[in-house]
Amino acid sequence: MIPPANPYPITIVIFGASGDLTHRKLIPALYNSFRKNRLPEHIRIVGFARRPYTDESFRTRLKEGITEFSDGTYDANLWEHFSPKITYFQGNLVNLEDFVRLKETLEKMEGETSNRLYYLATAPSFYEGIVSHLGSIGMAKHEDAWRSIVIEKPFGTDLASAEALNQAVHAVFAESQVFRIDHYLGKETAQNILFFRFANTIFEPVWNRRYVNNVQITVAEQVDVEHRGEYFDKAGVLRDMFQNHLLQLLSLVAMEPPTSFDADAIRNERAKLLSSIRPIEIEDTVYAQYEGYCPTEGVAEYSLTPTYAALKLYIDNWRWQGVPFYLRSGKAMAEKSTEITLVFQKPPHLMFDLPMDYDFTPNIISMCIQPNEGIHLKFQAKVPDSEQDMRSVDMEFHYRGTFDENAFPDAYERLLLEALERDASLFTRSDGIEIAWKLMDPLIEAYEKNPEFPVYFYPPGSWGPIEADMLLDRQGHIWRSGCMEC
Ligand code: BG6
Repeated sequence: MIPPANPYPITIVIFGASGDLTHRKLIPALYNSFRKNRLPEHIRIVGFARRPYTDESFRTRLKEGITEFSDGTYDANLWEHFSPKITYFQGNLVNLEDFVRLKETLEKMEGETSNRLYYLATAPSFYEGIVSHLGSIGMAKHEDAWRSIVIEKPFGTDLASAEALNQAVHAVFAESQVFRIDHYLGKETAQNILFFRFANTIFEPVWNRRYVNNVQITVAEQVDVEHRGEYFDKAGVLRDMFQNHLLQLLSLVAMEPPTSFDADAIRNERAKLLSSIRPIEIEDTVYAQYEGYCPTEGVAEYSLTPTYAALKLYIDNWRWQGVPFYLRSGKAMAEKSTEITLVFQKPPHLMFDLPMDYDFTPNIISMCIQPNEGIHLKFQAKVPDSEQDMRSVDMEFHYRGTFDENAFPDAYERLLLEALERDASLFTRSDGIEIAWKLMDPLIEAYEKNPEFPVYFYPPGSWGPIEADMLLDRQGHIWRSGCMEC
């Protein structure tokens, strides 16, 4: 049961506060919410980590994070008002005594009753230990005030570990206290998918197998694995991107309309959609690695970890029966582009007198998640001053230029505010996470347990291996993009 809203102050405790996430994302997000007057007035932020910072030196590090990662929003005067809210607590995540000290420090600092949001910004191997420490000394229980926990991705490395982690978390926190992050759900353009589909009347009637020929989701990154070789080599692109971000985008684009904007109504539909995905055939997957990956620090000498994958899947429900969904994601690709494209059926009969080899482009809706956020609709138009020539043209909507550019927050800003309001719509629920792993596990095992399994290579800066084009070609489809052409 979620305790009702209350007037008590809020303490945010960030575990792993000396790490990258805190100074690149969390503190800039909180600072920007403060700047916009969106943070609750009485809020404290306590950073927990092992390094010997003082409050002052910790704040200085965080200030550098804001100046570097917060798109020029640093303002010395505002920082003067914001920074006193931040304090540092030196402790070791594995020592229960340090949690006892933390509890005493918090109680002394809070004085009165206070709500608490615990944020796990540590390496995942610490999650279970932290949760168990919080539980064992009574730091997790809701009383008058609430207690919530935010858990970063990756949530497990396969179904078994995700189930074990869910069990460990549920032994201490009720599901309503738990906020599992998938930062793609916090992106404005991802949230807009539901508005585009369900706040308009003209799209939803054609959003199904009768009109849609295939759906494509591309999450291409230009960056390679950079300094994250050690993590990535164990994870691979399926764990790093597909199990979470791509499947969440898929659930938003394909789910049924929820009955309300309530967290559980939305999460029920997302989970229902994921559970309707037919087990993916290994033959419908393509794995690849960019050339030059193996020499990266932390990567095994002859690693076959895929940095790119493409797959085809089907959704077994009335809306999507028989419609192929193509998903692809990779590092070191030609461009950074996250895009969802619906390719519509060709008209049943073309009465125009077209040349035999005319390359007809069907209607296409492209939702450009990032960058160049917007929506494109391709349709055919008659070429003026011709008899019957036609050409595919583009109707475009761009966020930038339509809305205030500064109103484009980082995903973490929205996610932290939602967690503070304890609205879980933009967070993943335990069942959703487990269903996603169940889909991915056999695909990951296919190459991890079989060294003979084909992992292709692609040049950095390309669009991936030719085999990914052949995957679509089997059904006469091609990868389409409405976003990259603009
Ligand atoms: C993270 C992955 O979850 O998402 C990274 O671990 C990836 O490998 C990142 O680069 C992509 O996020 P964004 O917001 O830059 O698309």
